Amino acid sequence: MSQAGRLVVLVSGSGTNLQALLDASADPSYGATIVAVGADRDGIEGLARAERAGVPTFVEKLSGYGSRAEWDAAVAARIAAYRPDLVVSAGFMKILGDPTLSAFPVVNTHPALLPSFPGAHGVRDALAHGVKVTGCTVMLADAGVDTGPIIAQEAVRVFDGDDEHQLHERIKTVERELLVDTVGRMVREGWTVAGRTVRIGPGGEKK
Ligand code: GRF
Repeated sequence: MSQAGRLVVLVSGSGTNLQALLDASADPSYGATIVAVGADRDGIEGLARAERAGVPTFVEKLSGYGSRAEWDAAVAARIAAYRPDLVVSAGFMKILGDPTLSAFPVVNTHPALLPSFPGAHGVRDALAHGVKVTGCTVMLADAGVDTGPIIAQEAVRVFDGDDEHQLHERIKTVERELLVDTVGRMVREGWTVAGRTVRIGPGGEKK
């Protein structure tokens, strides 16, 4: 295989999706390497996971800037310094601004079957609605809240008596596998976007 694809992964919390990507990328045949991990807050397990793996980290807090536009520019500059082929927003709880979105392809993951239940409480909202099946979605990020073109989805059953935590943990088990599989295929095979339809395979963006 040609050179491994360079990933910058963004996190805001526990970073189990990041860990799954770190574990997968330890195998050269995966085709991707994580060149940096960025966060919008300190003291999170996601950053600790990166540090334990010897991956450089950066933190840009919105509160450190006078405006959203300045933060957007700072985040984009931090990401650009690592020359990524792909940015992965893996539990990063901020919408990325145009300076990042126009410069790099960004993959995002969400714990619901979009377009149902977008936003910060996808698991809670699905439970409250009483759905019997929910799941996870890997998408290309755009300027909206979980509105980008869908790349891959998997369904997860809701069990009687599930609470938000139990259901989210079951979704995350599936989500981690889907994210690792999807990102790996994208960097190895490239992808195309036609309207809202994303296809992984030759003739695409990259590699
Ligand atoms: C994931 O379910 C992600 O989709 C959601 O928050 C969770 C992050 O989990 N936005 P982790 O930080 O990767 O463990």
